[in-house]
Amino acid sequence: MDRKISLTGIKPTGNLHIGNYFGAIKPALELAGEYDARYFIADYHALNTMKDPAELSATIREVAAGWLACGLDPENVVFYRQSAVSEVFELATMLMAFTGKGLMNRAHAYKAALQENAEKGDDPDAGVNMGLFTYPVLMAADIILFDSDVVPVGKDQVQHIEMAQDIAQSVNYNYKQEVLKVPQAAVQEHVAVVPGLDGRKMSKSYGNTIPLFIPEKNLRKLIMRIVTNSQGVEEPKDPAASQIFLLYKLFASAEEQTALEERYREGGMGWGEAKEELFRVVNRELSPVRERFNAIVSDTQGLDRILAAGAEKARPIAAATVKRFRKAAGID
Ligand code: TRP
Repeated sequence: MDRKISLTGIKPTGNLHIGNYFGAIKPALELAGEYDARYFIADYHALNTMKDPAELSATIREVAAGWLACGLDPENVVFYRQSAVSEVFELATMLMAFTGKGLMNRAHAYKAALQENAEKGDDPDAGVNMGLFTYPVLMAADIILFDSDVVPVGKDQVQHIEMAQDIAQSVNYNYKQEVLKVPQAAVQEHVAVVPGLDGRKMSKSYGNTIPLFIPEKNLRKLIMRIVTNSQGVEEPKDPAASQIFLLYKLFASAEEQTALEERYREGGMGWGEAKEELFRVVNRELSPVRERFNAIVSDTQGLDRILAAGAEKARPIAAATVKRFRKAAGID
């Protein structure tokens, strides 16, 4: 029973949408069937940008409730808050001693901040806190602490995983033994890009998302607002060119897809009806998820208990890694 370990961090950013659902949540939950999964809420990572306490604590709860509502089983997955496992900060400090400043200078997020400042003619480091600058070290600690084999992430996080590999390898090289496990990225290449309401990629920054847990009425309104072209009811339509159909495919069965594809091609179906069909399949899948979410998020104590139980399971694993490293380092 030597199953490999899969770990990922969830930044509490609030308002999960169907892009997150298909791009991150579903693939990570599928991996949890095959691997020993350790999934956590990266709340100290969020502190770099979120300074409003009420907003941060609400967001942490919503994101945790969201993953549970989508099917994360806390009996099967070690599910915890980063802030509840303080060994991660001890490990991060130790890893700092093995992390070149030059490596951090090359991190995409930090470079993007510098570039933005340069364009505005500001001081290069304006608005850059040390949390942002050392973000990759804390993330490496998150990963390495749990002996992770694979880290399911989007493409934007690959550089961070490579940095975690570099840092772990520097430690192992120095002590001439495998003190720390070197993780691999599991990039979800096959995941479909989820189109947003305006046809561009669904993203919070474009304001074109369909939130996962909005009430049925609002869901319907959003879908009815999807931008379409001016083709009339009778005209045959190309399903591949319609974001309504691309969204439909994510929620419909194979038979439903074929049937609707034919109706598009035949003509005689207007955009209004295509949207009604889309609403029907989206709501069918999201209704039970929405109900579970509402029940979980309103039971604050229950949610806290789940996260506390997860932290209890996480801490001994974390403590063992730190102990091993301290011993190798001569600090035991
Ligand atoms: N940086 C990740 C993101 O922005 C979140 C994260 C923090 C993470 N720690 C991690 C992801 C460890 C994977 C493993 O989405």
